[in-house]
Amino acid sequence: MKTIKRIGVLTSGGDAPGMNPVIRAIVRTAVAEGISVIGIKRGYAGLINGDVQELKNADVDGLTLKGGTILYTARCDEFLQPEYREKAAKTCKYLGLDGIIAIGGDGTFKGAVELSKLGVQVVGIPATIDNDMGCTEYTLGFDTACNTILDAIDKLRDTGQSHERVSVVEVMGRHAGHLALYSGIAAGATAVLLPEQDVDFEHDVADVIRRGAIRGRRHHIVVIAEGVGHATDYCRRIEEATGIESRVTVLGYIQRGGVPSARDRATGAQMGVRALDIFKEGDESKAVIVKGGVIDDMPLSDTTDMKRALDQTMFESCNRIDTSWYWDK
Ligand code: F6P
Repeated sequence: MKTIKRIGVLTSGGDAPGMNPVIRAIVRTAVAEGISVIGIKRGYAGLINGDVQELKNADVDGLTLKGGTILYTARCDEFLQPEYREKAAKTCKYLGLDGIIAIGGDGTFKGAVELSKLGVQVVGIPATIDNDMGCTEYTLGFDTACNTILDAIDKLRDTGQSHERVSVVEVMGRHAGHLALYSGIAAGATAVLLPEQDVDFEHDVADVIRRGAIRGRRHHIVVIAEGVGHATDYCRRIEEATGIESRVTVLGYIQRGGVPSARDRATGAQMGVRALDIFKEGDESKAVIVKGGVIDDMPLSDTTDMKRALDQTMFESCNRIDTSWYWDK
């Protein structure tokens, strides 16, 4: 077992519920084992500028139930340039860090790989509401975001039902549809539109709504992943094609906030502990991942360019469930 004295932690990219519980787990575990933790602010920008603060137990009190990240986060364009990455690597040496834990999504992991090439040991922890990283079955924040979306759709259902409208709901996910599919099937949506699937508007949307209307359904929920296009355009087309009054709701950044769910807290806690163990076990830069439902790890350099495929079985199930039976009277 390697002895480590001091590690740095940063959060980067879009914030995700679960980041704070990971930070807490890292600090609590490290401090108990005599390792000091340096919090790096605003992701890689903090490494470039040396914007850091030691994190003690008191700093992470109550973080299990806090969304966002106490370390702040940013998307750091400077880090794309080699000279700034070298500056960041020098900061690590100057601070006497044995390594860095980088918490975030795809962009964060790409930055982590580049930093590791400069001789800094980096451990990546996947966190993004998009759940779009090919290296892991789960990214922190996804479960909380799905629950936030469900909560919003449940409320939209009340007003949609009362006005006998179509509720078109745009959810995040960047270029991926995992968030839309999971929340859409959970919400019992009439149609779910995803960037990974070709959309035949007449067949997949208009006809499904028309069929439901003929059978007496008075309201419909259509979930659209942001990667498909503007929900406003689809809303207009739905109203024109079906003659049913339609309203659009873009959920936006509300999806990134909120109290982390049990899954995000428990997974985050385990990932934090695993990250510390990786430093003790050797010098290799690695990614903490979920594989076969359990916490595992893999070489960090293997994580880049892995694209997470859409769960086709879930998509087919979502389409096979007949949402038009309901006589909404
Ligand atoms: O990656 C997380 C995410 O919330 C995406 O779903 C969304 O497309 C993007 O971040 C928004 O990024 P920004 O915070 O830079 O507007």
